[in-house]
Amino acid sequence: MHKILFDCDTGIDDAMTLLYLAALVREGDAELAGVGTVHGNIDPMTGALNTLRVLELTGVRDVPVAVGAARPMAQAVHYALDWHGTDGLGDTHLPEPAGRPVAETAPAQLVRLAREHPGELTVLATGPLTNLGAALLLDAELPSLVREVVVMGGAFGHPGNITTHAEANIWHDPEAADLVFAAGWPVVLVPLDATHPTAVHEDWLIRLSEHDSDAARFASGILQFYADAYTATLGRRGAVIHDALAAMLAVDPDLGEYVERAVRVELRGELTRDTTIWDARSLPAEDHRSPIKVAVGSDVAAFQERLLRAVLSL
Ligand code: BDR
Ligand code: CA
Repeated sequence: MHKILFDCDTGIDDAMTLLYLAALVREGDAELAGVGTVHGNIDPMTGALNTLRVLELTGVRDVPVAVGAARPMAQAVHYALDWHGTDGLGDTHLPEPAGRPVAETAPAQLVRLAREHPGELTVLATGPLTNLGAALLLDAELPSLVREVVVMGGAFGHPGNITTHAEANIWHDPEAADLVFAAGWPVVLVPLDATHPTAVHEDWLIRLSEHDSDAARFASGILQFYADAYTATLGRRGAVIHDALAAMLAVDPDLGEYVERAVRVELRGELTRDTTIWDARSLPAEDHRSPIKVAVGSDVAAFQERLLRAVLSL
């Protein structure tokens, strides 16, 4: 069974991922050891309260939610309120959660859980990578303690969603992302090239909206906002639930297609800062950076069906 530490910036597609993970937990198919939040779609305290709101909706209890980095390593902080709403959850303005975040910070929680469960922890990161970068700085042995790190981020052939080439999670903190790709731990990167083809459209959204449960109503509500925001990009209403694909590939890697590449983040380019670059040459990477797995495709029908069923099961 996968023991997951979820690091996120909750966020509409992060919230959908929490619903998916909660369904796995309720089925006994995964354990959610903790959640950490980071700046990105929204500030990390709002992200933590949103996380608690979503978990409380699912009835999954006793998951520690830790607040993490409030800003990137080497640049100003930005939020994505146009995509996720002023509350991070599509302006649904849910009531205050009953629970509170724990006192421990998200990077400290990551290090502690990795030390308590050496070789067992899957770190699923669907926000900027500042908490993971900070955890690597806190504990030099961390890469050997973690089972796998699955990251939603980056764009290779696909256009960026912030600049021509840059994807949001990398753009928010490129220095942290580069630390994570250089650390030598087993990374699976799920970029826009893999997530965009999984976009759901009206038929899927209608099936969700027709279901009568708190979780389905909540999901349908936040996705209304997200689908409106995506209309211009997709050319019709729809939603790219990026982060849930990373979660699904973390627990069921056979649903994805991958290539192994050394990946670096451009940190200096005038037009290309924040771009993920892979080395497709058959030579060893110039800086001997270990290759990581990059998802280049997935079983789209299985993803869409499993995500819907998971939400409807709650
Ligand atoms: C990523 O950016 C965020 O807006 C989403 O939550 C997702 O993690 C997609 O580029
Ligand atoms: Ca996210």
